[in-house]
Amino acid sequence: MKKAWWKESVVYQIYPRSFCDSNGDGIGDLNGITSKLDYLKELGIDVIWLSPVYRSPNDDNGYDISDYEDIMEDFGSMADFDRLLKSAHEKGLKIVMDLVVNHTSDEHAWFLESRKNAENEKRDYYIWRKGRKLNEVSPEERKQFASDVVEYKGEKFLPPNNWGSFFSGPAWGFSEETGEFYLHLFSKKQPDLNWENERVRKEVFDMMNRWCEKGIDGFRMDVISLISKPEGLPNQPIPTGAIYGDAGQICANGPHVHAYLKEMNRKVLSHYDLITVGETAGVTLEEAKKYANSDGTELNMVFQFEHVSLDDNPKYGFKWNTEKMSLVSLKKNLTKWQNGLYEVGWNSIFFCNHDQPRIVSRLGNDSDLYRERSAKCIATFLHMMQGTPYVYQGEELGMSNYPFQDLSEFRDLESINAFHELTEKAHLDPAELFPMIAFKSRDNARTPMQWDDSENAGFTSATPWIKVNPNYKKVNAKEELARADSVFHYYQKLISLRHHSGLIVYGDFRLLEEEDPNLFIYERHLDGKALLCVCNVSEKEREYTPPAEFQKGQVLIQNIPDRDVRAGKLAPYEAYVLAVE
Ligand code: NOJ
Repeated sequence: MKKAWWKESVVYQIYPRSFCDSNGDGIGDLNGITSKLDYLKELGIDVIWLSPVYRSPNDDNGYDISDYEDIMEDFGSMADFDRLLKSAHEKGLKIVMDLVVNHTSDEHAWFLESRKNAENEKRDYYIWRKGRKLNEVSPEERKQFASDVVEYKGEKFLPPNNWGSFFSGPAWGFSEETGEFYLHLFSKKQPDLNWENERVRKEVFDMMNRWCEKGIDGFRMDVISLISKPEGLPNQPIPTGAIYGDAGQICANGPHVHAYLKEMNRKVLSHYDLITVGETAGVTLEEAKKYANSDGTELNMVFQFEHVSLDDNPKYGFKWNTEKMSLVSLKKNLTKWQNGLYEVGWNSIFFCNHDQPRIVSRLGNDSDLYRERSAKCIATFLHMMQGTPYVYQGEELGMSNYPFQDLSEFRDLESINAFHELTEKAHLDPAELFPMIAFKSRDNARTPMQWDDSENAGFTSATPWIKVNPNYKKVNAKEELARADSVFHYYQKLISLRHHSGLIVYGDFRLLEEEDPNLFIYERHLDGKALLCVCNVSEKEREYTPPAEFQKGQVLIQNIPDRDVRAGKLAPYEAYVLAVE
């Protein structure tokens, strides 16, 4: 297998708004990040992925960009960014930028022009369509979408098709200027760019080249699998319980997406030594083999989402749920990806990011008794797998979900809109829905980083933009840095093990005990070396004796210090790794 620095690296994701506030306005910022680089160095990561820091009106916390080459005022200035980049590089840390080019903000100069009139030279930068006259749509659609009817010059229209936005409501925004609709797969302040337009692609590639010239080290590409829309934008089936047609499925891996990424690779990526990861909603293994092909003609790797969709709600078909995922399904799914991309592509391995609830609450056990041990257990089986690991801020402390009690505590438009749409239009019982949203909301990941036990967890001296998890007095970086058996030091060790082991980075993967509902056990092999990763992902005590081959192995790491791992017993959430030469 071809070796590469980005295969041997560990990436740490920062959500700047919630990381560290240096200027006392309740919002994290670039100087705050710069002040914490030594902390990241101590953890041992190699690469920082910054969620968007560009100018943005913040409808979707920076994923709605109004200027790709300026910095959001809340976060500081371009001079602050340059200082961060320089300081990171001096410490041997790389910086990956979030590239959000499926859509812009509706306040981006391109869109402000585009919406003016149909003849505007930027009109075709976005996806504009005429609405459907009411007499052209079926009575069912007229009834279903009654609240979306718009009136223009005395006539009534419905949006061009039945697609729903990922953030509730129709995927089409109406523009009074021309009486036409623009496509927005996300919020109505996030109009989709028209990638079929060669000039749009050139603008994006030129902008990327300018960032590369500045010295950044890579891109994480937001919903890059959605940039090529299907021919004719046809109506889609409405999933059970939903109101609108499913746009996600039909837009994912669209007809020209690989051609566009190959063009991007030729015109930008291949000219620099970058790490690139595509956020590919709706990606299948077969598609991932193209995006992350080992010939390097598209991207280094992708984020796939099958494993973090296993706890979607079977009753309603949406992500909101209170149930944990089944470990058997998780093991099977991860094994499919581990083996499926081996030697033909490259995996990213992650559970947490700014869109996912905290994994210790989601899959582990965040009670006082098991929070730390289960966080370490999950980290063990994630970090011993093949692929580039991503650690999301606070994951290395075992930060847990926020105990939401009231809708007013949420800041995320996805959670808030979903609550309204599902209770008001789909008539779900608010008492049933609220705990589901509380469990899966993206805001669980977005509460401030817990630095110490001082007010607001040391994140800010002002009122934070979103509440701090009340467990910060116990769960914080200062306490964990000072304690040898903390979650922090466990992550530090996992990261260091990877840095010193070709086997962990490049070895193959063999799942054992496939059908066991509690145990996640696998082997890795490379050039005559092997390791065995054993995790009891449950509150039950279990019996387990390592295979003979590993009996004399060396313990690389274990989450219950000094325990005899050969004694044949596994405590709740116990994890260990044995290695043999
Ligand atoms: C995926 C990002 O991770 C998410 O946070 C964002 O809301 C959407 N893309 C839209 O940009």
